[in-house]
Amino acid sequence: MKRTKIAAANWKMYKTPQEAEDYFEKWVAPKGAGDGLEVVFFPSTILLDCVSMHIKGDGVEFGAQNIHFEKEGAYTGETSALPLLALGAKYALVGHSERRTLFGETDMAVAKKVRMAQTVGLVPMLCIGETLEERQAGQTMAVLERQILAALGERVEGADLVIAYEPVWAIGTGQVATLEQVSEVHSSLRKFLLEKFPTGWASAVSILYGGSVKAANAKELAELDSVDGFLVGGASLKPDEFMQITSTLV
Ligand code: PGA
Repeated sequence: MKRTKIAAANWKMYKTPQEAEDYFEKWVAPKGAGDGLEVVFFPSTILLDCVSMHIKGDGVEFGAQNIHFEKEGAYTGETSALPLLALGAKYALVGHSERRTLFGETDMAVAKKVRMAQTVGLVPMLCIGETLEERQAGQTMAVLERQILAALGERVEGADLVIAYEPVWAIGTGQVATLEQVSEVHSSLRKFLLEKFPTGWASAVSILYGGSVKAANAKELAELDSVDGFLVGGASLKPDEFMQITSTLV
């Protein structure tokens, strides 16, 4: 089964509008974009409008780093999926570990956000990952399976979704997971999805790796059959480096 390869840039809470403009002066869409490869930008909410001006389709998309689980209402400071969709976004990141750990996002909130994204027609990019303590206690797959089941329930038929496996201990630490660790988890995740969900759906879902991906380690990770792309934080802030990372997926 040929799955879409995805290079996703999570800019987190970095960049001003001017810095975003400067970025797109330098950044060039890769050749394979639109032909089995997709590049996705996740800027901070205030930059979405600015970034949307630089996205012309053809395999280059954008989305928000977080959405609220209601369409609208008295939720000061939150971001609705509706204006996001109106701006032309395709994706919403859901359940990033920084949202879970720093902002108290529960499995239940993650599930509601996945449902909201799918209801309005955005593709949720569901982030899952174990902490170092959980890995050391041998609970990695149990944690990941719990996060997937909690987020998806039984509602997968026909629903678009991308999964990003990001071990919490590898995010922003410079400590990338080993090839063995990535390969083992990605293969186990695929097996789990195939067992739990309709076969066609489960084999089509792209599973990305995230956590200290950079130009120096992307090639060997991209060569793993079970890796369908990357969710890149720090290294995506530099256009040259993100282009190099993206080129490993072509
Ligand atoms: P990192 O972040 O590439 O800086 O480790 C990844 C992420 O948080 O999505």
